[in-house]
Amino acid sequence: MFGSIVYSTLLASSFIGFATAAPTTPSKATCDISGAFVHLGEFPSMLPHPQYNPKYVFLGVGTQNYTCNGTSYVLDGAVAGLVDVSCNWETSYKTLATQSLSIWNQSNDDPITFVRDGVLAQHSTELGFRSPSYFGEHFFVGKLPRWDFSVPKGLFEGQENAFVNGAQPAAATIAAPGSTGTGNIAWLYLTRQDGELASEIYRTDTRGGVAPPSCSGSDSIQVKYTSIYWLTERSGRN
Ligand SMILES: *[C@@H]1O[C@H](CO)[C@@H](O)[C@H](O)[C@H]1NC(C)=O
Ligand SMILES: *[C@@H]1O[C@H](CO)[C@@H](O)[C@H](O)[C@H]1NC(C)=O
Ligand SMILES: *[C@@H]1O[C@H](CO)[C@@H](O)[C@H](O)[C@H]1NC(C)=O
Repeated sequence: MFGSIVYSTLLASSFIGFATAAPTTPSKATCDISGAFVHLGEFPSMLPHPQYNPKYVFLGVGTQNYTCNGTSYVLDGAVAGLVDVSCNWETSYKTLATQSLSIWNQSNDDPITFVRDGVLAQHSTELGFRSPSYFGEHFFVGKLPRWDFSVPKGLFEGQENAFVNGAQPAAATIAAPGSTGTGNIAWLYLTRQDGELASEIYRTDTRGGVAPPSCSGSDSIQVKYTSIYWLTERSGRN
């Protein structure tokens, strides 16, 4: 995906802020998901349809961080480790999200250690993971959410443009569908602000991550969550 053909397509695109660094080695998710249907929610409350084909789909396991502003918890970043689910059936994602949260709930590790360094992989069989390769990290840079595969042990370790920052002004959100249970963070659609990893970002099949309804003082909390993330990319197939 960082090959020369894609590179010139991106250069010709209207995206602003594209970094003009050398293209890097093409590589892909283990299984081709370009024909998969991104989960958009349940009618009538649905996320926008993707403009491009899915390129990556992965499970995020981590925390939503909040700081109390005196009365309410306000989102203050997030951290998650990201693991490939491209070889799993789409119908398994809801179970995967629930079961991995229940395992994550019992851990005292930080999310990156938990996902990257093999703790989650120890549960591969019970989770039904087909090729749980580690992709990278989700975290915030200032107010911008980032998905970064250039991090240590990531799919594109050391390839500095192998990330995407979501553009908050272009975000769409829907409440997590009622059929997924209660207490789950919203589903999201974001477009690319910068980075070469993807054009669009979806967060679906969320579990957990919601802060308590009220607070006092200025304490910070971390609420465990899991979700499925989808990255789409403008490419030759579109
Ligand atoms: C705290 O956040 C809530 C929810 O966003 C907002 O309604 C409230 O005005 C904020 N309070 C302060 C002191 O900023
Ligand atoms: C969010 O929580 C994680 C632990 O899950 C922590 O490592 C990270 O530093 C926190 N980030 C922020 C911006 O508070
Ligand atoms: C994980 O822990 C949270 C907070 O204790 C709880 O609300 C949630 O039901 C748990 N989820 C699972 C799948 O175990």
